[in-house]
Amino acid sequence: MSDSAIENLYSEARVFPPPEEFARQANVSDPAVYEEADEDWQGWWEQHARALRWMRDWDATVEWSPPHVKWFVGGQLNVSDNCLDRHIDEGHGDQVAFHWEGEPGDARDLTYRELRDEVARFANALKGLGVGKGDPVTIYLPMIPELPVAMLACARIGAPHSVIFAGFSSQSVVDRVEDADSHVLITADGAYRKGNVVALKDNADKAMNMTDLIETCVVVGRTGEDVAWTEGRDHWYHELIEGQSPDCPPEPMDAEDVLYILYTSGTTGKPKGIVHTTGGYLTQVAVTHRLVFDLKAESDVYWCAADIGWVTGHSYIVYGPLANRATSVMYEGAPDHPGKDRFWEIVEKYGVSILYTAPTAIRAFMKWGSEHPEAHDLSTLRLLGSVGEPINPEAWMWYHEHIGGGRAPVVDTWWQTETGGIMITPLPGITATKPGSAMTPFPGVKAVVVDEEGKAVPPGGGGYLTLQRPWPGMLRTLWGDDERYQQTYWSRFGPEIYFAGDGAKLDEDGHIWLLGRVDDVMNVSGHRISTTEVESALVDHPLVAEAAVTGRSDPMTGQAIAAFVTLRGDRKGDDALAAELREHVSERIGKIARPANLLFTDDLPKTRSGKIMRRLLKDIAEGRELGDVTTLANADIVSQIEASSKEE
Ligand code: WTA
Repeated sequence: MSDSAIENLYSEARVFPPPEEFARQANVSDPAVYEEADEDWQGWWEQHARALRWMRDWDATVEWSPPHVKWFVGGQLNVSDNCLDRHIDEGHGDQVAFHWEGEPGDARDLTYRELRDEVARFANALKGLGVGKGDPVTIYLPMIPELPVAMLACARIGAPHSVIFAGFSSQSVVDRVEDADSHVLITADGAYRKGNVVALKDNADKAMNMTDLIETCVVVGRTGEDVAWTEGRDHWYHELIEGQSPDCPPEPMDAEDVLYILYTSGTTGKPKGIVHTTGGYLTQVAVTHRLVFDLKAESDVYWCAADIGWVTGHSYIVYGPLANRATSVMYEGAPDHPGKDRFWEIVEKYGVSILYTAPTAIRAFMKWGSEHPEAHDLSTLRLLGSVGEPINPEAWMWYHEHIGGGRAPVVDTWWQTETGGIMITPLPGITATKPGSAMTPFPGVKAVVVDEEGKAVPPGGGGYLTLQRPWPGMLRTLWGDDERYQQTYWSRFGPEIYFAGDGAKLDEDGHIWLLGRVDDVMNVSGHRISTTEVESALVDHPLVAEAAVTGRSDPMTGQAIAAFVTLRGDRKGDDALAAELREHVSERIGKIARPANLLFTDDLPKTRSGKIMRRLLKDIAEGRELGDVTTLANADIVSQIEASSKEE
């Protein structure tokens, strides 16, 4: 194998065909859908766009002038109209849109009509504050109902929103406010997190002291903290909406008008403002949500346990589910507050039938032990989803068995902030899944794994994931920086090929396995080895809860593999176990991948969206000075790991 491609090491023989009963009732169960969508991909997306309510029909389905795309050109619609009014007009105003559950245990149900009325009131209030079509509004809110209300109110009047995760710092707010040139900020007095109160308005005040762009600040009362107040600038949300009319006609928007900006932190440089537009985006999130999660609006209780501050929450808590008239659970807080069974308590309480969460959460549940889910009735669950990182086969199996009772199909969904919606995924009524694989491109999507030269790799090969046909939910540009857009995504293999930045491999059957970010690939004696495969081999060992590996420089082999391992339950690591684990990797995927160093640790450094920060572990493994750790969810663990790594 050439040293430019990524090696294909881990193999997996387990296969889980859709249970017959599931396939029989599935929203899609005929595999012909793949061929149909492939032959006429424009027609396929168009057919799903027709399911939405348009105010004006489009003239052209797609205009592709690489690397820029427009979908449903000339068509007009409003996202909030499609997510709310359409369902009320069809007689479903009394259906619950959100079962909202607060961290302290308070709860609130919002029907589609209640949600629409509150959205319209707040939309009128925003208008009263001078917010108009095209004015970017920054939203810095915790997981409370006012967050989707604010997003939908913006969508109703055509103001693009920029949501900032409530765990981010004042500096992050300043960077994003300035990049977006936003003059309105919506925040809350405080946020609950693991039983504590985070002083959100305080953070917002600090941010507003660092930039003078914000002229209007709307504050939602959540925790009842005393907050500093700037007269003229600050307004209480509840006072603003009081007395507002629940009648606010949705603004007709062009399909290509901006719906939102969402910033993703790049590994280098300032955050990128990913731009999503209206018609194509809503089409893709709606159809993927309906087919991948097999959503039945009448009977399902759907729960995406992400934070709306990330794209997963934008697409699969707010826009996709509401477009499909789903009844959703929305949970404010941490999975281990007050107990490590909080999620399972919620599943039981609301009778959740579809659960969508991340591998990092699943591995935490594994570590905490199966007694927590076992203490609750999870029999309503009929489908499980995963997103955010490669899911290790053992985590997949645990999820399938301990949460899904061995009966619920698991869909591992690959996508990015940039793609807007799910791109590679099983369809639960069709696909025989393999633990750890995202399997196949969604119908109409053309995903190709290529080598260094951009040539498609054959089954059994590894390389880079690319997308070779435009899709409706595609990012349109980076806010205010089209050149960086072209550079980042469309220069590696030319302007018609989207470079996702992820390594991937094809197995012998042509199914896709994601291998993590390309920057995470190691080079050991000329073999390009994916961190994900070595991590999966470690997690495959029954005592291991979670593992992160990174390459460190080595005079002999170029790079050597350093592994950081957390164990299940209260188990402590020692030299004998370290040796056993290194041997286990060697047996599972080959000697070349055996970690040179293996360190046991209580936790791994994670970003706030739960992704392991391998860059920091690499600095530790190299004995380098550590960079900024303030964006970590668990900064303390870094100094602990650093200390024990020096002892070694
Ligand atoms: C990773 C989250 C493997 C990948 C929706 C991607 C995954 C990045 C998967 C995007 C998956 C997401 N398997 N890797 N199922 N899902 N990723 O923008 O590296 O927060 O490029 O979007 O997460 O992260 P983002």
